[in-house]
Amino acid sequence: MTFEELKPIVSKIILKENATRDEKLKEICQLLSENISYYDWVGYYFANHETKTLHLGPYVGAETDHTVIPFGKGICGQVAESNANFVVPDVAAQDNYIACSFTVKSEIVVPLFVNDVNIGQIDIDSHIINPFTDADERFLEFVNKEVSKLF
Ligand code: SME
Repeated sequence: MTFEELKPIVSKIILKENATRDEKLKEICQLLSENISYYDWVGYYFANHETKTLHLGPYVGAETDHTVIPFGKGICGQVAESNANFVVPDVAAQDNYIACSFTVKSEIVVPLFVNDVNIGQIDIDSHIINPFTDADERFLEFVNKEVSKLF
């Protein structure tokens, strides 16, 4: 499915009446991982600004040990501080990277803003090198804009 085809489905999930926020987030993760061939792990992390840590939320893909990530650590921790998208074409070239599995070759993290505050992020791992383009960034920004309505 194309990004343009996926967008209205994301919006529909957000508007569902009989689902919790976590159920909707999980459904979005599922939608993305099932329909975009190179999205192999899709999940949300949420920030605790007092303890300066990220906490794993709903996700789809291999189980991960990294359920809590300090701000500044790894790709996710860096985005918690930079408030900017982070596209990693080849994780092997990153010094500040937390490896989940040797099968992961690339990663994209896009922050989630609610009232201009970075409250978390969507994190996507791929088993392919360099699969992400500007189109992925724009699409994931759209997804997070929709998700921000749940907060
Ligand atoms: N690779 C991430 C850690 C989280 S996992 O990909 C699920 C990072 O470097 O922040």
